[in-house]
Amino acid sequence: MSEWVDVVRDGELKDGQCRVVDVDDVMVAVFFRKGEYYAIEDMCTHDGGELASGEVEGDEIICPRHGARFCIRNGKALCAPAYEDLPTFPTRVDNGMVQVTDDRFD
Ligand code: FES
Repeated sequence: MSEWVDVVRDGELKDGQCRVVDVDDVMVAVFFRKGEYYAIEDMCTHDGGELASGEVEGDEIICPRHGARFCIRNGKALCAPAYEDLPTFPTRVDNGMVQVTDDRFD
């Protein structure tokens, strides 16, 4: 059964900031945007590049390698050269910690 895993302390991220956390070898990028936390896998679906160092524009993250854009809220691929959406992870705040969960986490 998957568990909820602590990834960042609630309140540490400013609007549009993200933190990347290795959870059981899955790189999870946690974003804070307009008062909500969102988590996407930090691996571009175009060619496997990491995303989190890319520029954030509003609700979009721009892959630093070839410029694909993804929605940080729902992982949707928004433009070429990426056509597949990113995996997303449910988030919650528990006892002052932001947590994520996924079937891949032990
Ligand atoms: S690896 Fe992200 S656009 Fe190519």
